Amino acid sequence: MTEPDPIDPFRAARRDHGVLAAQFAGEPIPMILRHADVRKAARDWETYSSDAPMRVPIPSEEAVRSVRQLPIEADPPLHTRFRDLLKPIFLQPLAPDYQARIDTLIAGLIDAALTRPHVEIVRNFALPLQSRALACLLGMPEAAAEEWISWGTHVFHDGDDSTDKGAVLDRYIRAALDGADVPAGTDFFAILRRATVDGHALTRDEMVGIANLTFAGGRDTVIHAVSRIIAYFADHRAELAKIASDTKRVAFATEEFVRVVSPLTHIGRVCPHPTDVHGLAVPADARVSLCWASANYDEAVFDQPETVRLDRSPNPHLGFGSGIHNCLGATQARTILRSLIRQLGTQTRAITVMAEQRQYEDQPSYRRWVGYESLVVRMEPA
Ligand code: HEM
Repeated sequence: MTEPDPIDPFRAARRDHGVLAAQFAGEPIPMILRHADVRKAARDWETYSSDAPMRVPIPSEEAVRSVRQLPIEADPPLHTRFRDLLKPIFLQPLAPDYQARIDTLIAGLIDAALTRPHVEIVRNFALPLQSRALACLLGMPEAAAEEWISWGTHVFHDGDDSTDKGAVLDRYIRAALDGADVPAGTDFFAILRRATVDGHALTRDEMVGIANLTFAGGRDTVIHAVSRIIAYFADHRAELAKIASDTKRVAFATEEFVRVVSPLTHIGRVCPHPTDVHGLAVPADARVSLCWASANYDEAVFDQPETVRLDRSPNPHLGFGSGIHNCLGATQARTILRSLIRQLGTQTRAITVMAEQRQYEDQPSYRRWVGYESLVVRMEPA
């Protein structure tokens, strides 16, 4: 462990070396830590490639899936083709009527929480919120989300049955593709069945790989962000009152939460050629990590990075990544988090934490606080 600070465990290594010689499941993976270096590496896909099926996430996911996730596990030009194909779906949250639907969804969850003496936020608020919002994005009925909720907070790693969970997701996706109304359907699976890239229909593995990422990608990340925001405002009511009715302030606050929480600690890249990272030799075909969470606490870029400043501006955080692979679900995530902050401010008078169990990312090389295993709160109506 570099430092016993679960908020910014990378501080000493970032300052002293710019890199942490980390190990994940026995695999040595240098973590690139400084903001400038992470941004630069994210742009240099020839040196730090994403063309690595199952090996972009850390730890790698060979045991839980057998298809390449798209567009994340590809470099240009393949990456560009699939990203362009998906943009119209992922940019829907920019539309006001879409945002109104997310507002309604969150209003319903807050209303339900207000009628109970207390609510466990992770599984009974954040998880249904993420899954029902995903149904909205995928053009599916809200009821479809009930099955996704049953998969838990992570499609592969909630519990110790990762391989089985991977198979459940794979079966679900293949059945949904088989059952799609190809000529007339307007949902995600019908769109994938009709889609073409360079004049060719997608292969079944390409469709499955896109859907696999869509279900895996924005799940625990959104859940951690939602839970941490609710816990923060339980302790900082006056700050919520100050910002909640001001769209611009809510937008700034959302970016600051994504920076501070950094729900995705890091992501992998594979080096096709031998590379040197701040003096650490990376052999050909070995991996490095781009550590968004460390970059987001880099004191060369963020004044007092450990202080939550809801009006921080500029806020060039890398919580949603950087460069060509920057998060395609960021408009969805922002829509959810902004609506949540607004409505926590307008629909509640007080939020009280009754019990909490924090969730840490425990690795041999660092320990980092990401979110909650469980967060029980009482919400009182405005
Ligand atoms: C607060 C929530 C979220 C965070 C912090 C987050 C973080 C990230 C990051 C750091 C990347 C860059 C990966 C890389 O460079 O290899 C990424 C990519 C991606 N994310 Fe998210 N994400 C969030 C929510 C979502 C949601 C809700 C979805 C889907 C509904 C989603 C779908 C994707 C996809 C498809 C990519 C790949 C983009 C590409 O390769 O071009 N994410 N995300």
